[in-house]
Amino acid sequence: MNISTPPAPPKTEALARRYGQDAIPDVGPWNAHLDLLLSHRSIRGYRPDPVPEGTVETLIAAAQSAASSSNLQLWSAVVVRAPETKAELASIAGGQKHIEQCPLYMVWIADLSRNQRLGDQENVTLEAPPHFETFLVAAVDAALAAQNAVVAAESLGLSTVYIGAMRNDPMRVRELLGLPDQTMAVFGLCVGYPAADVENEVKPRLPQPAVVFSETYGNPEEPALRAAYDRLMTDFSERQGMGAVSWSKRVLERLGPLKSMNGRERLAATIRAMGFPLK
Ligand SMILES: Cc1cc2nc3c(=O)[nH]c(=O)nc-3n(C[C@H](O)[C@H](O)[C@H](O)COP(=O)(O)O)c2cc1C
Repeated sequence: MNISTPPAPPKTEALARRYGQDAIPDVGPWNAHLDLLLSHRSIRGYRPDPVPEGTVETLIAAAQSAASSSNLQLWSAVVVRAPETKAELASIAGGQKHIEQCPLYMVWIADLSRNQRLGDQENVTLEAPPHFETFLVAAVDAALAAQNAVVAAESLGLSTVYIGAMRNDPMRVRELLGLPDQTMAVFGLCVGYPAADVENEVKPRLPQPAVVFSETYGNPEEPALRAAYDRLMTDFSERQGMGAVSWSKRVLERLGPLKSMNGRERLAATIRAMGFPLK
């Protein structure tokens, strides 16, 4: 009889993938939903196969089931399938080929325009929309909705990747999609089936004590926690063929030089020009 060590329960495997063997948190109850959430990975290569009929409606039903601030529902989505539009959007995003490859590309919009039309129709002056707070509510609503769509897609065996690079040139996105005033494309989302050759290892995250605190903010162990995560991510990066580069180095490269913002450093002015005064 083979008396080898029994396999680790699924929750330990999922947590080890997410945090590495040395930082597995002592989690409580577990279920298949959590397995799904912890298996998330962004996918950047797609087969051309179409998604099943009704997928958009399913994803939107999931998205609309997310919480929404005061139930204002300040978001919309534009579903893009046309190859020429996807090619333009890919070029705005710095040539991200997965936008062209994926059968379904969804652009998520912070949308105050629908409720503005309601105010106009009812002859009620809306004093809240020009304020930064209301723009933020719309952007948060859009993100929560999209994330529900991501989880729904993954539960159906589909893969996704967010595309924040829509914000490289949101005015051009607006022209391409015919977006009205008081709307802004906050990000895109590729949806489809992963290409066979695409790398899909779960990307580890910071250990929990680096991001969650008890009663008041902070952990004096932060430098050591970051160093441990850097070791994990350097190995991950090497396995992915992206060089032995630490997480800290990538953060400093991304947040250090202004040029890494790809034009987005002018975003506040652009958003104002789109009909959000951001008072
Ligand atoms: C709002 C947002 C925008 C993103 N934009 C891009 C993007 O333009 N291109 C890209 O390849 N990945 C993009 N990503 C994916 C992140 O790089 C990815 O989520 C992160 O590296 C963690 O990897 P994981 O999703 O596989 O866990 C974006 C993610 C978010 C949440």
